[in-house]
Amino acid sequence: MSAKPLIIMNQDLKNIKLNNNVMAELSQGLHGEIYAPGDKSISHRCVILSSIALGESRINGLLESTDVVCTIEAMRSLGCDISLKENTCIINGIGIGSLMEPIAPLDFGNSGTAARLIMGLVSTHPIKSIFTGDESLSKRPMKRVVDPLIEFGAEFTLNKSEFFPIIVNGSKLPIPISYITLIPSAQVKSAILLAGLNTPGITSVIEKQKTRDHTERLLKIYGYDVAIEENKENTKISIVGQQILEAVNINIPGDPSSAGYPIVAGLICKDSNLTVKNILVNPTRDGLYKSLIEMGAKIDLLNKRSEAGEEVFDISVRSSNLRGIEVPASRAPSMIDDFPILAVAASVADGISIFRGLSELKVKESDRLLGIKHFLEVNGVDVSISNDDLIIKGSPGGISGGGSVNTNLDHRMAMSSLVLGLVSNSPVLIDDSDTINTSFPGFINLMVKLGAKLKIIDLSKQR
Ligand code: S3P
Repeated sequence: MSAKPLIIMNQDLKNIKLNNNVMAELSQGLHGEIYAPGDKSISHRCVILSSIALGESRINGLLESTDVVCTIEAMRSLGCDISLKENTCIINGIGIGSLMEPIAPLDFGNSGTAARLIMGLVSTHPIKSIFTGDESLSKRPMKRVVDPLIEFGAEFTLNKSEFFPIIVNGSKLPIPISYITLIPSAQVKSAILLAGLNTPGITSVIEKQKTRDHTERLLKIYGYDVAIEENKENTKISIVGQQILEAVNINIPGDPSSAGYPIVAGLICKDSNLTVKNILVNPTRDGLYKSLIEMGAKIDLLNKRSEAGEEVFDISVRSSNLRGIEVPASRAPSMIDDFPILAVAASVADGISIFRGLSELKVKESDRLLGIKHFLEVNGVDVSISNDDLIIKGSPGGISGGGSVNTNLDHRMAMSSLVLGLVSNSPVLIDDSDTINTSFPGFINLMVKLGAKLKIIDLSKQR
């Protein structure tokens, strides 16, 4: 690959990693039909629930990303029989209460969801396990999940009181709990429900703000009773432990967060018209789409059907003139992973956008509040942070670009920066595109297929 394009970068490359760098160039006329990869949240949950169901489950469309592979490997280490054959994952479940003690530490790589959900599961089995992860996961707070799990009777040894590596000694005689979650987190809610599966009596979680509800929906699909009581103030989810999960044959819908990258690219690149097929549309996950529609996006939801207890659509978009909006803090849980890509849309919208109440972004795969500011700022976008709000002044005429972005082991920073590059006058460069494989293997090829100018370059030859 030629060394030339890098000369126009407006930054020096001293601080950027030299592996698998990718550059995005101004693109127009994105066009075509693609399938987004399987939903990450549902994929993790299907692997876990199938592993403790009775009988053989067949999961089609499982997301085979590095994050989900961590869940598969962890469940294998806990004694479950899992195979992947021709896009179908086949799992012979061992039943609730039958997990075996792993002989080696469980490595959760980059995946907070895998780690927190499986921590819930093992905490009510009489086994000892050691939880480890990569540099990013080792900086993520675990107290939020450890606190309720201690109430079940599990014991934990934590590094500096809340970080990996963590040793979990599961409870021999688990005690059911009723827990009010302090932060809106589907991972915490799901960890508690998974712990409740092997606990006699009623386990309840009470959430003040609704979070993604795939665990509840899937439990019902596996034949497990779930009671949901909703009022204006909160939602209470209760299960009775030690029932039976029945094996399933399930198709996993496409991930609305992953679909957000080609969809926003289709909206902001000139003369574009594209369709992403088979996307999950769930009221606890639709904040990105609501926000884009408020911004004036031309989005059509087509061919409604249902899969895995969820509604599924094909989503078509056309190039649109977007306007700035205010996203209220109350919407954050329904689009918690999607602020980086909404920030890209806001960067080319007419007017100012304010996204409110983003404190939870600071504890994702990286500090995404600072990360969004970084990747926008190095590419010439007018962006600021006030308390936990993000303020972006859009430039409908286009962005200067030319920045090199540190993705900090964060797949969503990597993909969002590349989409920003498609509307930037000078190319945008990212380090370490490998991180994209945590949620969207094949992202670069799919985007190129739609007409995006993305190029893998070997920066090590440039220094
Ligand atoms: C997830 C929940 C969210 C989200 C993550 C997936 C899940 O995390 O950010 O990518 O599958 O339960 P929190 O529970 O920390 O909000």
